[in-house]
Amino acid sequence: MKILVLNGVNLNMFGKRDPNHYGQATLSDIEKELNSLAKDLGVELECFQTNVEGILCEKIHQAHDTHIDGVMINAGAWTHYSYAIRDALAILKCPVVEIHMSNVHARESFRHTSVFSSIVVGQICGFGKDSYLLGLRATYQCIKATP
Ligand code: DQA
Repeated sequence: MKILVLNGVNLNMFGKRDPNHYGQATLSDIEKELNSLAKDLGVELECFQTNVEGILCEKIHQAHDTHIDGVMINAGAWTHYSYAIRDALAILKCPVVEIHMSNVHARESFRHTSVFSSIVVGQICGFGKDSYLLGLRATYQCIKATP
């Protein structure tokens, strides 16, 4: 089973961004924890981050053209307005799970909308770095439950 973890704009700055929303962990700390959980679950993990919207779209196209069983995505601010990323994700046949560190629904109103919500299996937000670990478990269960 192979799962792709996608991180979008500004998420390489975790550890330096507002700790009240994003905690102290860096993206690299989070990826280490994800890799350790993936090992326990017997899952192959690929982690990818970019600050360039078109590059994220191309990575999603590649996920379509290669063997990926599931995708987890924290697109950062793109979540709230990128129809380009939404359309790229909609091409995928595999389950997509949306992740956020912070509880986007308890923040500014522009964060309450996700343009991905109608095409993802579900959204996990508000648990800090544990959103990623819960997201990996959710993606894994979702793939296993698909006949
Ligand atoms: C975020 C929430 C987004 O609203 C914000 O733009 C981010 C991070 C999160 O993980 O909580 O960059 O996706």
